[in-house]
Amino acid sequence: MSMERQFVKRRIEELRKEIERHRKLYYEENNPEISDYEYDQLEKELRELEELYPEFKVKASPTETVGGTVTKGFTPVKHPVPLLSLDNVYNENEFKDFLLRLYKLIGTNDVDFVCELKFDGLSTALFYEEGKLVKGATRGDGNVGEDVTENVFTIKDIPKEISCKYKSLIVRGEVFISKEDFKKLNEQREEEGVPPFANPRNAAAGSLRQLDATITAKRPLSMFVYQILLSSELIPDTQFECLKQLKEWGFKVDDHSKLLKTEREIVDYYNYLTENRDNIPYDADGMVVKLNSIPLQNKAGNTAKDPRWAVAYKFPPEIGKTMIKDIVIQVGRTGALTPVAILEPVKIGGVVVSRVSLHNEDEIKRKDVRVGDMVQIERAGGVIPYLVKVFKEERNPDSRDFQFPETCPVCGSKIHQPEGEVIKRCPNRNCKAQIKEAIRHFASREGMDISGLGRVLIEKLVENNLINYLSDIYKLDEEKLIKLERMGEKSVKNLLSEIEKSKSREYSKFIYALGIRMVGEETASLLESHFPSIDDLIKAKEEDLTAIDGIGPKVAKEIVEFFKTEENLKMIDEFKNAGLNLKAEKKEAGPFSGLTFLITGTLSNMTREEAKSLLKNLGAKVGSTLTKETDYLIVGEKPGSKLTKAKSLGVKILNEQEFQKLLKNPELFLKVDR
Ligand code: IVH
Repeated sequence: MSMERQFVKRRIEELRKEIERHRKLYYEENNPEISDYEYDQLEKELRELEELYPEFKVKASPTETVGGTVTKGFTPVKHPVPLLSLDNVYNENEFKDFLLRLYKLIGTNDVDFVCELKFDGLSTALFYEEGKLVKGATRGDGNVGEDVTENVFTIKDIPKEISCKYKSLIVRGEVFISKEDFKKLNEQREEEGVPPFANPRNAAAGSLRQLDATITAKRPLSMFVYQILLSSELIPDTQFECLKQLKEWGFKVDDHSKLLKTEREIVDYYNYLTENRDNIPYDADGMVVKLNSIPLQNKAGNTAKDPRWAVAYKFPPEIGKTMIKDIVIQVGRTGALTPVAILEPVKIGGVVVSRVSLHNEDEIKRKDVRVGDMVQIERAGGVIPYLVKVFKEERNPDSRDFQFPETCPVCGSKIHQPEGEVIKRCPNRNCKAQIKEAIRHFASREGMDISGLGRVLIEKLVENNLINYLSDIYKLDEEKLIKLERMGEKSVKNLLSEIEKSKSREYSKFIYALGIRMVGEETASLLESHFPSIDDLIKAKEEDLTAIDGIGPKVAKEIVEFFKTEENLKMIDEFKNAGLNLKAEKKEAGPFSGLTFLITGTLSNMTREEAKSLLKNLGAKVGSTLTKETDYLIVGEKPGSKLTKAKSLGVKILNEQEFQKLLKNPELFLKVDR
């Protein structure tokens, strides 16, 4: 064999192995090492080499198969209709080739196309019988997927019942997590000391493919449906009409889809989407162009894995190459130490990126990141920059490993790493960095809502030692504030009046504002309804807390730990002395005392918050999870899985009209109903 052929053969083998390895990381472990773009480049290189040297091609080559298999623990589901993949094009020329090929196949160019977003999530099939959701399955390898029925039942966007009562209907769509929910989810994970997800797609995959569906239920998953895979009755004969039909039946259908005809129109729309992709609230990695006519789709047919009538026109990768100038440690509200790489600023997808989180020490080691390294940065999720890899071949031979400090860079305390967690923490609650973040949280809208107490002012207050503990906020006075740079009389007055107003905020807001680890707004409300004053809460034992539906052992431990700490108790005394409201409002006089309500779906006349406070004023408890103790479920539009569960638990269900009646005349209503 010639040298060149030998080289090609070796490269093909190498590529196959590498592709299989990355597929496993992506599909099975939800933890890819390289960006989608890099992965596509590997597949492309392999395809080109195999075309040039067909003698080296094997049947099991990744170019002939689709990634994704059934992971252990899941029941396999055979797809009645295979879930095909899509061929990719990356530029106008490649797209033109696709069009010409297709025109030739169908014998005409007088046709329309539907251009849809290519959502970056997890392809999933939903099975309906006589209008009822009966099964959900991941794509798997396209022929056999994983049974995720229990999991899909927990996703609020997925209708459990649709208006189409056909004997059987199977639809396909994409399960995903929006950019905003992804950001929140990762913040929460960092707080809990578990590794964050690299991007929304991994978060969605890791959340749907859970053997324990109660975990899926806690994740903010959504789903767009875009295809009717199988129907026992006749369906429209164009893709565009099918999308309309799906929407009418009750599915969530994306509204970026457009019916277009000429190459120019399609490319223009592609350019428009590319430029505006940052404004789309969910991740899309391209545009899917589909032949509109279904009879013509059938005429064009499929290859072993892709339809010949559709193509994924990928967006340019949002990646950039730059150098790491420094690695610094950032201290969060709960003391979490996050290493952050300071970059030589680089423009990626129109935005200048100058820093990227390295998340934790393990991540730095895994990627072997060093100061001075050239790195590839991707704006994962279109918003949050992410370090994809280090160009090790370009590394300065003198570079040294990053040494995580032993002490907090802000206060010098010895760093602590809780067992089983990847996050290191500064244990000193009085660390200035922690105090600043704690004040921000305390004063936030969801907390004590002190407007005017923003980042810049907090910085000054802490640096000038005017605030050392949260409770010092209530010791601020004119004399102290007026001395601060750029604080005029008027702003001092306004701030003091805002601080004064915050003293009468709801008790649950105060509990949230304390910033106890893992205690979010929902937990704070639960605590308010079970421990009507701060003294009751201080006395609570772990077992009292875990007895509450919705509070797990980890959260309970954090709460008890918080109120065991001398300093925190002292702080609470000071809050009491300052006259803060540390009690739940008395509600026992209301007609609904002793009753627990729960709200699901969207109400048309008021927000959920408004409904909650009306109910609470009537003495009711308003829960956040459905349990045997729930007395009434109020159902708005698009109710989630709670409705199905409520029916099975025998909870009384009220629609919005009935709820309105109840509010108007509670006594009478209850007499009839009880
Ligand atoms: S159509 C036969 N439409 O992209 C039709 N797919 O790279 C094939 N995807 O596995 C699928 N958005 O999970 C289609 N609007 C969309 C899509 C979409 C995302 C995913 C799908 C597929 C992958 C192919």
